[in-house]
Amino acid sequence: MKSLQYLNKYFFKYKWRFLFGILFTIISNYFGVQMPLYVKSTVDDLMGSTTISGYEDALFLSYKIGGIYILLSIGKGFFLFLMRQTIIVMSRFIEFDLKNEIYAHYQKLDLGFFKRNSTGDLMNRISEDVSQVRMYLGPGIMYTINLVVLSSMIIVQMVNISPQLTLFVLMPLPLMSFLIYRVSSKMNTMSRKVQEEQSNLSTISQETFSGIRVIKAYNRETEMGSKFEHAANEYKNKSMKLVLVNALFMPTIMFLIGISTLIAIYMGGLMTYDKQISLGGIVAFIFFVNNLTWPFASLGWVTSIIQRAAASQKRISEFLETEPTIVNTNHSDFDFKGGIEFKNVNFTYDNTGIQALKNLSFKIKQGDTLAIIGKTGSGKSTILDLIVRQFDAASGSVLIDNKSIQSINTDAFREQCGVVPQDVFLFSDTIANNLKFGVKDGEVSSEDLVKVTELTHVYHNIDEFPDKFETLLGERGVNLSGGQKQRISISRALLRNPSLLLLDDCLSAVDTETEEIILSNLRHLKQNLTTIIVSHRVSTIRNANYIIVIDQGEVIEEGTHETLLKSKGYYAELYQKQLTEE
Ligand SMILES: Nc1ncnc2c1ncn2[C@@H]1O[C@H](COP(=O)(O)OP(=O)(O)OP(=O)(O)O)[C@@H](O)[C@H]1O
Ligand SMILES: [Mg+2]
Repeated sequence: MKSLQYLNKYFFKYKWRFLFGILFTIISNYFGVQMPLYVKSTVDDLMGSTTISGYEDALFLSYKIGGIYILLSIGKGFFLFLMRQTIIVMSRFIEFDLKNEIYAHYQKLDLGFFKRNSTGDLMNRISEDVSQVRMYLGPGIMYTINLVVLSSMIIVQMVNISPQLTLFVLMPLPLMSFLIYRVSSKMNTMSRKVQEEQSNLSTISQETFSGIRVIKAYNRETEMGSKFEHAANEYKNKSMKLVLVNALFMPTIMFLIGISTLIAIYMGGLMTYDKQISLGGIVAFIFFVNNLTWPFASLGWVTSIIQRAAASQKRISEFLETEPTIVNTNHSDFDFKGGIEFKNVNFTYDNTGIQALKNLSFKIKQGDTLAIIGKTGSGKSTILDLIVRQFDAASGSVLIDNKSIQSINTDAFREQCGVVPQDVFLFSDTIANNLKFGVKDGEVSSEDLVKVTELTHVYHNIDEFPDKFETLLGERGVNLSGGQKQRISISRALLRNPSLLLLDDCLSAVDTETEEIILSNLRHLKQNLTTIIVSHRVSTIRNANYIIVIDQGEVIEEGTHETLLKSKGYYAELYQKQLTEE
């Protein structure tokens, strides 16, 4: 239950709704308790009455009884409505706040966190788990308050009528509490398992739909289907077990309430013999015992809600308590000049233990173009990730304008970077909105859009679409070719007017001729634009001011195109090979 304490700050935030909720519960139950009492006095009056002499009297009395009873019901109902309006509404407000809190926290976390946790899991915690917690905040709390208020009011009234009969009637209660305690702890473990399966199921379906192309091309629908079915089966089986336990709950409670009613009638009946209790008293007792049914039945339900919520909140808190490893501590202005230096940088991926960079050093000054070439998996993308501080180096230092990257205002620095990642990601939105994505207020003139897409040689493609820049991309829109996507991705980076341009193998799907055009456009783009370009093709990088060749995270050769050719190493060999291929 400790995990739920986290939510107390929200109760405090919405304290007025909460307090009024309690007040309305009390008032509603006050009316509720008056009803059996009214029946009691009516029955007692009727039994002892000598005044009802005719049909008229009886009719008048019926109207009076009915009228008052209806008024009490209306009072009870009205405040019941207000009780829900305060407490359930409060729970919806908290749900809203909690979702926003989690979402904001997710965005603060570093890339490593997202590599460690699956998307399905992340989504589950913000949707399914929050719903579970909401059940505790709303119905859970409401029925608990109701139980406490109603049962104490009823017990006071019952003791008032007959302490002895109260004792008899309430006798099954300890047994009931014990049963509830046992069953609810079982339900706790069960519901945790159900939630795990639920998470698993979301992950599978999410992967299926994002990888649907591969699945269809490989004709693996049946296999994916059975994988899903297997997971769904696990989920079903575990839910079934939970349902069984849940289903046994209610009848057990009903049975115990039934016993209480029986005791009320039997013992009460015996007690009328020596006038310890009136007939009306017994009727009131039967009402009271039945009124206790729901609160006590809800006790089991509420326990399970609370336990589910506790499990969910624990999972939510686990993420909320995860501290981002990359934190921007400096908020002063930062004007990036263009110098970048790596000094003996080592980097190992936590999750795999792969050492991606070993003692890596290089330097680039303002306005220069640095090219990185090397075999696949040699650590090129990792270098770029370190430059925009997606990760921090394990040892050694990454210097931006001669200052350690940890000491500068990372946000301000990133604001001046144009990153084109290796795996292009475009949003399911219009081309224009995708292009404007990196621009702070999103205000870009249509001339600028044309200009930038001409630079990257994609304008003529966009122009052919009927909706031009308003063409919708992604799931509900057009599917672009790999090369078109890459060029839009470059345009998006350029539109930011960056001081540092990072291009990660982003012309790989473009033919060499087009590539030549784009690269030459980039060279004349802006004075003092520092560029780092990663590629597998020598033709892409030959004009760079400096080239480093890396292998297994280490620099094995470096220099300009000419000097590297002269040294006749890996680079020269690669050049020859690619030249003959062409
Ligand atoms: N998120 C990650 N978690 C764990 N290991 C990773 C991760 N990303 C990369 N690696 C590993 O780090 C090494 C370097 O990867 P990196 O992506 O930097 O290579 P690369 O030079 O960009 O390759 P490519 O030319 O294929 O893009 C590889 O061995 C890779 O398996
Ligand atoms: Mg890469």
